[in-house]
Amino acid sequence: MENINFDKIIERKNTNCIKWDNLEQIFGKENITPMWVADMDFKSSNDIIKALSKRTEHGIFGYTKTSDEYYDVFINWIYKKHKWKIDKNWISYVPGVVPGLKLAIYTYTKEKDNILIQTPVYYPFFNVIKNLNRNIVTNPLIYSDNIYSIDFKDLENKIKQYDVKMMILCNPHNPIGKVWSKDDLIKISNICIDNDVLLISDEIHSDLIYENNKHEPIANLNNNIKENSITFYSPSKTFNIAGLQASNAIIPNEYLKKQFDETIEKIGNSMINALSQEAFIAAYKHGELWLEYLIKYLKENINITIDFFNKEIPNSKIITPEGTYLLWINLKNIASEEEIKDILINKANIGLEEGSIFGEDGKGFFRMNIATPKEILLKSLKKIKTSFKNGGLI
Ligand SMILES: Cc1ncc(COP(=O)(O)O)c(C=O)c1O
Repeated sequence: MENINFDKIIERKNTNCIKWDNLEQIFGKENITPMWVADMDFKSSNDIIKALSKRTEHGIFGYTKTSDEYYDVFINWIYKKHKWKIDKNWISYVPGVVPGLKLAIYTYTKEKDNILIQTPVYYPFFNVIKNLNRNIVTNPLIYSDNIYSIDFKDLENKIKQYDVKMMILCNPHNPIGKVWSKDDLIKISNICIDNDVLLISDEIHSDLIYENNKHEPIANLNNNIKENSITFYSPSKTFNIAGLQASNAIIPNEYLKKQFDETIEKIGNSMINALSQEAFIAAYKHGELWLEYLIKYLKENINITIDFFNKEIPNSKIITPEGTYLLWINLKNIASEEEIKDILINKANIGLEEGSIFGEDGKGFFRMNIATPKEILLKSLKKIKTSFKNGGLI
C-alpha cells in the first residue's frame, strides 16, 4: 500500500495553478492563503501518477482513441458506488462538466429560453446560461434553522409561469454541501416530467459523501426521468485531476444522445486527451482505497473547522456538509459581507469566496475549501480569529 500523506505541504505556486497563481487577479494581492476554487492541495494517488509517468515515458502523444477500458472502469465505478447500471452507448466524453453544461444548453434550448437553477449555487451555472443568451429563472432554496430545503411549490410555479425548458440540478449541491434525498429527487423528477422540462444533473461531487448520506443518481430513479435527463460525472473533484480534463455526459435517451453528439461533432472537441485518459482509468480502476483515506481526512478537517467556528466565532453558523469539501458559513450576524471580505483579505490574508457570487440569497455567507493539509487549515483558522478580534468583529 502506498504511503498516503495528506498532511504533507506541497508548494503549488509556479505551476500555473489557478488557486495559488492567480491571487493578484482574484484577491488583488499576492499574500493570500487561497481557500476558494474547488481543487485540493493534495497529491493524486500513486496509481494516477504512475499511469501518467508510464504514458509520458513512452514519449509519443499522437491522436488518441477512447479505449474500452475507459468505459469499463467508469461503468464499474458508478455501479459499485451508486448502483446505477450505465450502458456504454449512453456515454459521451466531454472535457469538463462546465463545457458539458454549455453543450447541453446549446443543444437542447434556444436563445431566450428559460432555464431554472436553485440558488445559492455554483456560480458558473449563471454564466453558462447567460453566455448562451438564455434566461435564468431561480428557485431559491429555503434556509431555515441553518438547514436548506427545496421550495417545491415555488419550483413548480416558476416552471409553469416562465415556461421553463431546462432545469440544472446540482447534486450534491455546491456550495451548501447537501446530498439531495431520494424523496426530493423523486419530487424534482416528477415536476420536470409533468411540465416537459429537460433535467440536467451535475453529479460531479457524488463520490465525496460523508457518513450515512447516500448519493442517488437521479436518472436511476425510474424510466421516465432516465429518458428525460442528462447526467454529468467526472473523476476531477474526487481524485484532484481537474486540470487533466476528462468527464462524461450520460444520456440514456437515444434521440437526446444523438443530438448531443451532433453538437460535439460540430464544435470539434470529441477526441480524448492521451494523458487524461490514463489518469481517468487509473483513478476509477485503483482509486477506491485512496478515496477512503481522503474522505476520512476531509471529514477531520470539516470537524476541526466546524468546532472552530462554533467555539471561536460567536454568532457564526456553519452547516455540516453531507458531501463536498466546501463549507458554507453564515456570517450575517457578525458584519456586512463587504466588511468581512475586507478583513479576510486585508487582515487575515485568507481567500474565501463571498456568498453573493452564488446568488443574492447567498449574501453574508462565505464558502471555504478545506481540502488542504491540516497545518495550512489550522494556521488559516487562527488568522481568521485574530483578524476578527482585531477588527472588533468578535
Ligand atoms: C457543481 C460543480 N460542477 C462543475 C464543476 C467544474 O467542473 P469542470 O471542472 O469539470 O468543468 C465544479 C467545480 O467546482 C462544481 O462544483
